[in-house]
Amino acid sequence: MTEPTSVTEVRKLREQFHPFCKDSLGWNFETPVGSLHWKIYELALKYKPKKYGEIGSGIGVSASCVAYPSPETHLYLYDSPGHGYGGFGGSDEYLIHHMTKFAKGRCTLNLGDSQTQTAKDMIISNGPYDMFNIDGDHSYIGAKSDYDTVKKCLAEKSILIIDDITHIAHKEDLTRLFNEALEEIKSIHKNVRSEVIEEGTGVGIIYINID
Ligand SMILES: C[S@@+](CC[C@H](N)C(=O)[O-])C[C@H]1O[C@@H](n2cnc3c(N)ncnc32)[C@H](O)[C@@H]1O
Repeated sequence: MTEPTSVTEVRKLREQFHPFCKDSLGWNFETPVGSLHWKIYELALKYKPKKYGEIGSGIGVSASCVAYPSPETHLYLYDSPGHGYGGFGGSDEYLIHHMTKFAKGRCTLNLGDSQTQTAKDMIISNGPYDMFNIDGDHSYIGAKSDYDTVKKCLAEKSILIIDDITHIAHKEDLTRLFNEALEEIKSIHKNVRSEVIEEGTGVGIIYINID
């Protein structure tokens, strides 16, 4: 499998993505679509991960962008509502609303701080994940702790996503983490490539053993 590089292919995917945002998520065309959301939709559509994990599932927008184009995926979502960066009051209610709509019967939601030993053990025991998105604590130390957990439970062929790596408030911390993660993963696996989407608040993607 190769990345969708042709302009026509990307345009076709975006044509599918926009009606999903408008009709299903209730956004209009003026709503800025985050680079994470657009990219994650594309990846889910293309690779159809069996298990998708996400730390920082918030109100479930990125999770919906995986669940909708990939109806067989089971989603393992971890969030500590109101915790640190990007915490939304009542995010669990919105999250449950979105997941009931898009991932009924195939979503496991765990609420709690991802940096506790209990949460770490749970994240690891639910793996291995074919795709994982780190979008929780956006500090270097917090996101590094999440990465250190997630790296232990990625499938042999998997995709690791770190969100917001060009975000003005987190660029330094998360770009550092992304580069360190990439180097470490490259030192373990032969077939590793990466992609950075600079637009919006940026997304870093590491493809492990994915041709
Ligand atoms: C930027 S938002 C995620 C947005 C989400 N991906 C979406 O599309 O709706 C970050 C989320 O990470 C959560 N978070 C922050 N620190 C966390 C931690 N230590 N453990 C678990 N979740 C955390 C926040 O509660 C917030 O919901």
